Amino acid sequence: MKNTKRVRVEGRSKVTGKRIYVDDLRPEDTGFDFDIAVPVTSRCAVGKISAIDTSAATHVPGVKFIMTYQNAPKLKKVGPLISMVEVGGLLPLQDNRIHYFGQCVAVVVADNLLAAQEAARLVKVSYTDTQTPIVTLAQAQSRLRKVKRAGIALGKLTKGDAKREYEAAAVQLDETYHCAPHHHNAIEIGTAIANWDDDGGVTVYAATQWHHLESLGIAQAFGLGFNQQLFDFAIRMLVGRAKEGKVRLNNMMSGGAFGRNLNMIHVLLAAMAAKQHGKAVKIVLSRAQTYTMYAYRGEVNQRLRVGVDAQQHLSAIVQEPQVAIGAAGDFVEPVGEAPMQLYAHKSHFLQHRVARLDLKGTGWMRGPGISSAIFAVESAMDELAHKQGLDPLEFRRINHADVNPENGKPWASKSLLACYDQGATMIGWQTRPQGGSYDAQGQLIGYGMATSFDLGRQFPASARVTLNPDGTATVAVAAAEIGQGIMSALTTIAAESLGLPHKRITLQTQHTKLPYAAGSIGSTGTFSNGSAIYEAALAIKARLFKWLVKQKDVTFYKHDPSTLHIDNGEVVGGDGQRVPLETILAYYPKPLSHHAKTGRTFGMGSKFAKASFGAIFTGVAVDPLTMVMKVKRMVGAFACGRIIEPLPACNQILGGMVWGMGQALFEETRLDPNEGSWVNDSLAEALVSTNADTPEMDMVFVEEDDTVAHPLGMKGLAEVGLVGPAPAIANAFYDATGKRLRKLPLLLEDRLTTPSDRKDSLASAVAAEFARLPVPTPVEVV
Ligand code: MOS
Repeated sequence: MKNTKRVRVEGRSKVTGKRIYVDDLRPEDTGFDFDIAVPVTSRCAVGKISAIDTSAATHVPGVKFIMTYQNAPKLKKVGPLISMVEVGGLLPLQDNRIHYFGQCVAVVVADNLLAAQEAARLVKVSYTDTQTPIVTLAQAQSRLRKVKRAGIALGKLTKGDAKREYEAAAVQLDETYHCAPHHHNAIEIGTAIANWDDDGGVTVYAATQWHHLESLGIAQAFGLGFNQQLFDFAIRMLVGRAKEGKVRLNNMMSGGAFGRNLNMIHVLLAAMAAKQHGKAVKIVLSRAQTYTMYAYRGEVNQRLRVGVDAQQHLSAIVQEPQVAIGAAGDFVEPVGEAPMQLYAHKSHFLQHRVARLDLKGTGWMRGPGISSAIFAVESAMDELAHKQGLDPLEFRRINHADVNPENGKPWASKSLLACYDQGATMIGWQTRPQGGSYDAQGQLIGYGMATSFDLGRQFPASARVTLNPDGTATVAVAAAEIGQGIMSALTTIAAESLGLPHKRITLQTQHTKLPYAAGSIGSTGTFSNGSAIYEAALAIKARLFKWLVKQKDVTFYKHDPSTLHIDNGEVVGGDGQRVPLETILAYYPKPLSHHAKTGRTFGMGSKFAKASFGAIFTGVAVDPLTMVMKVKRMVGAFACGRIIEPLPACNQILGGMVWGMGQALFEETRLDPNEGSWVNDSLAEALVSTNADTPEMDMVFVEEDDTVAHPLGMKGLAEVGLVGPAPAIANAFYDATGKRLRKLPLLLEDRLTTPSDRKDSLASAVAAEFARLPVPTPVEVV
């Protein structure tokens, strides 16, 4: 790649505070005045609303309108594309039934935020027919049922007779791994503005990961040409062209999304409130409301049986996940995608079972399914290595999958072995101290590692690239910048594909009026949209060169068009002659524009399997008495194909590793089992990794050529950083203490009370002491 000077496209505006987020918008920015809306949420989990008393609320000065199920617009069914998430199954304010604690029961609109919040507190909702909610998998065993699909993956997979192979295995492991529910906890709380236009359409300002999908849900709910919208959406997906629907979505910068900013309830509520109120509104959530207005990652339990033959090869993987889903929506954590593609193995069996809990619907969250699955598999690999007296890294090398074990396809590229080598070197794996040694501070030392993995996919996308007569280019692609740096990466792909300096590229993104683009989901956005830009650039250059070689008075007359290229804004001939592009374009008879559509097959049908891989290595120090653990060092080596923009790519991965550490040590949204409410619904109490927790970290991208699958040579790059740190830390904790923890997060109480495999250790003696303590009797609260 040419070393042109690159900038983070939206970087300056962010660091100088100039970038406008939804909540910053003022009437002078939107061009219309708006009131402020605040939701009221239920204080009951299961039941019916018997009465809503708004008399006190309406007397608050400034209050203009209160929307409840009694006066909210009746919405139409939303689906099938959106049926996975809650708004596909439970539209807000449609009747008096309550399905979970924190469900929206009213929206208060006032001319200022304080009045709306004050009035929201005064709305009195009474409930009847209340029931004790079922909110954990342990309580919901009778609700479990098998499913055919999990997310966009299959719910059931089989290869060979895995149960028989397991019984015959030389070494067996049969354990259950548990992952606690947790929320995205983005810094941005959640705001949206909706204004009904004169033509019956609606203009929306929101921060979404996929504005075309977001607008489709709203269009369906309000019947703004349901079939037309669905048809348009399909057309946009497949051919990238359709007129803009009646939902005009201005996508703003997001202050963190991580999977939650899709089909958001509060965006729909804003449109509903604006419609009934007869004036534009801006809806503003409270921090606590983000725990029940956005989706989250539900609880997952996985029984895993793994068999290994006498040659130390995996012979059977039997995975039986139980996945919690919410009261509405059919999003199921696809826990089975990763285990069946990670290592070579003879047979497998997977069946997802789900239980519908009396909670808000679950949804996409960073590393959906894969991060929970990898915790189980990579913990199990560590356990199995110990059972066989093998180095955990060696055991993984022995079981390296040279082809995709699920479908037998060759990998387009796979540099996992290089990741193992480089990661091991970075942390000093071969010369690490014996697990359970003491450091100079008297802390137990442990090292652990895990493989990380993320599937690569390509989504349908389109982009329109126009070469302007002055030698600049305009790239219209409705990609969603959610902080990952996609604007910068797409600018680079455009500059490189066209042979122009970066500063000559103008990128248009963030609006539904632009040509259909893939959303920023599942680590697919940059590759999917980049490939559309790349194809458009190829078409434009081909057209230009074909015309150029026919121009009698021009340098390249009668050249072979295939010998021409553009470099740094100049057309270059096979003989090295250079002519500025703008000189040529001044004579080109028509606007030079091309709208390319790519990814119609979702990358399926390729003869190659595609995935990104990585290896995480970590070193921890554990206090032998208190079991307080400090992650001292974490490194990762990743193979993600070609890295378009190293800085944001590195940010993604390091940020993911920090989150992975949080998943290991802290992240759990806790439930009050009687009330069915999330109890730590604030940033003060929902613990996440902070700078003080973050150790010295380092990461490298392993050089990798993936151009056999696509000329851009790109793979998914984002979520792979989050996948791996949690099991690596759990494995390091085992190395330090001899205690195997199979439950995320690795809670201090579990660290203390779990018996150690090292019977002679201090950790073992402490656990024995704890085992002798009387179980405290719960205190009755009167
Ligand atoms: Mo990702 S869970 O699609 O942000």
